[in-house]
Amino acid sequence: MKNIAVIGAGTMGNGIAHTFAQNDYKVQLIDVSKDSLNKGIATITKNLDRMVAKEKISEDDKKRTLANITTYTNLVDGVEYANLVVEAATENLDLKLKIFKDLDKFCSNETILASNTSSISITEIAAVTSRPEMVIGMHFMNPVPIMKLVEIIKGYSTSAETYNTVEELSKKLNKVPVEVNDYPGFVANRILMPMINEAVETLYNSVAGVEEIDTVMKLGMAHPMGPLQLADFIGLDVCLSILNVMYDGFKNPKYAPCPLLVNMVMAGKMGVKSGEGFYDYSENRKAETVSKQFAK
Ligand SMILES: NC(=O)c1ccc[n+]([C@@H]2O[C@H](COP(=O)([O-])OP(=O)(O)OC[C@H]3O[C@@H](n4cnc5c(N)ncnc54)[C@H](O)[C@@H]3O)[C@@H](O)[C@H]2O)c1
Repeated sequence: MKNIAVIGAGTMGNGIAHTFAQNDYKVQLIDVSKDSLNKGIATITKNLDRMVAKEKISEDDKKRTLANITTYTNLVDGVEYANLVVEAATENLDLKLKIFKDLDKFCSNETILASNTSSISITEIAAVTSRPEMVIGMHFMNPVPIMKLVEIIKGYSTSAETYNTVEELSKKLNKVPVEVNDYPGFVANRILMPMINEAVETLYNSVAGVEEIDTVMKLGMAHPMGPLQLADFIGLDVCLSILNVMYDGFKNPKYAPCPLLVNMVMAGKMGVKSGEGFYDYSENRKAETVSKQFAK
């Protein structure tokens, strides 16, 4: 494996590109938006600068990492020599099915196709290609250069050879791969999202306020961040969409999203990215009063 194409230069895509490039892989970073590519490279540069300042890497490492990344707006050109493609485009089923149909058409027969999806079925994605045994989930965590875990998701048809190759590759990135089968939410989100949903429900039922709920989980359970703040960082729309995937996939009411979460997303309060969720990021102050107006 030498050439890694990464599709999508957003939050995850630029982190995945950074990680591969820093480990001496040649990365073809592909996005439909030139603006996203520019922002992605700017983010990688800023994150490398921070690592240089902390003396974790040298100025030469930074230069070498950036030189390993080439950007493309055209998928066909970007994947021409790819040994592996890691798709990290927007979380949307139709979009991902279209991308994988194109990848199947334009990549060499030997190319492994991976998706970083948080919740979409790898089996469903694999089924639109002529190589389902070479399609796999490679679920990195945010921020990618720092977080150790890679959930490796085996679709129904993923071959042992594909799994072994991706597992080995993850280790070469100094990550810890964990083998997971393809069911809604995989492992990480199947456990995390019901906890976040229950934290929102606890707020909705006026059992306690935003800071109180987060403090209980931080100081009582040694979580580095409370569940409501974590939801703000993940994006409330993303949390809602993952819960809906699990609710639809298992047909089990225990995954039904809390009405307060639904209301906040409808009101455009997505968390950090919109400037406000359970906390107010625009002025760096708590938005508990904002959240409470949606509660019963
Ligand atoms: N954000 C997280 O914490 C997180 C964690 C794990 C996994 N994921 C998954 O990673 C994927 C990306 O999420 P994100 O948060 O980085 O999203 P994002 O919105 O930050 O970035 C998505 C990027 O995809 C690009 N894009 C859209 N259509 C495209 C196409 N056809 N070809 C190429 N690029 C295209 C967009 O221009 C955008 O730059 C999703 O599947 C998501 O579920 C996200």
